[in-house]
Amino acid sequence: MSFKHISVLKNELVEGIITDKSGTYCDMTLGGGGHTKRLLELAPNSKVMAIDRDEAAINAAKENLSDYFTRVIFVNDNFINIKEAAKENGIEGFDGIMADLGVSSPQLDNPERGFSYMSDALLDMRMDRRSDFSAMNVVNEYSADKLCKIIGLYGEERWAKRIAEFIVKARPIKTTGELVEVIKSAVPQGAREKGGHPAKRTFQAIRIEVNGELDAIESAINSACDLLKPSGRIGIITFHSLEDRIVKQSFASLAKGCTCPRDFPICICGNKPKIQIITKKPVLPSTSEEEQNSRAKSAKLRIAEKL
Ligand SMILES: C[S@@+](CC[C@H](N)C(=O)[O-])C[C@H]1O[C@@H](n2cnc3c(N)ncnc32)[C@H](O)[C@@H]1O
Repeated sequence: MSFKHISVLKNELVEGIITDKSGTYCDMTLGGGGHTKRLLELAPNSKVMAIDRDEAAINAAKENLSDYFTRVIFVNDNFINIKEAAKENGIEGFDGIMADLGVSSPQLDNPERGFSYMSDALLDMRMDRRSDFSAMNVVNEYSADKLCKIIGLYGEERWAKRIAEFIVKARPIKTTGELVEVIKSAVPQGAREKGGHPAKRTFQAIRIEVNGELDAIESAINSACDLLKPSGRIGIITFHSLEDRIVKQSFASLAKGCTCPRDFPICICGNKPKIQIITKKPVLPSTSEEEQNSRAKSAKLRIAEKL
């Protein structure tokens, strides 16, 4: 299977985390392997432990990286388990770790995966098809209140309340096509003209909920930073303001170390800073990258270095 995904901020991320051309690296979100491939090219004696929770992505990346087979260890798991994966593969520390969060183009573009509002398929949206929780559960089982919160927060959708109420009334909803029609009927005609496809934000919100996308980030960053060797680097690309906030705050707290209340005269927690932040402001794609790849538009890259 070919995997058509244009990697975002490819050189910025990879060059930003290479600290040793013979080092050991981790790609926490392998996807089609675009970032990993660049890393293997730029660091010719390196090895990469490459994680993805989506088996289809792992299989596609194996094809894409066939020239580098001996230098890549593939791990089909959630990146929250990075410590266990490193241990199982006999890796004690990494010289660099990268993540490119969110969804890949093939996940969105393959109608069978039920991610897309552009084609009709059974509601699904699971990145990991071993999971027994899908968009079918969210759409048909959540209360109107819970749906409203998710669609408002993860989708930043101003019509969240109406959409949630319309979904509850229209149940059962089995397909992406049916869901699109319900959303269209909930969003007033005048509001539909602006902001792209009327279902875009609701679909994004349901996808984030189905995959617990925000839940794993902070814990994975803490584990990743524990696994970094001194002067090793971590780089993370986000596509959503809530994701970026979690990365920014997690880096800030690891860079600060001490967790004592501000009014304590001396530190009693003893926590020391673990990283220093390299990108004071996030790195953004150039205008030409944004023109060539619309997915790049909301991307932000943050990099930190282990002390
Ligand atoms: C934006 S794509 C990565 C694309 C890749 N960097 C490339 O250049 O081809 C994100 C990938 O991360 C995976 N992913 C998202 N959350 C994950 C998680 N918690 N654990 C493991 N993989 C995850 C998705 O399945 C998807 O394949």
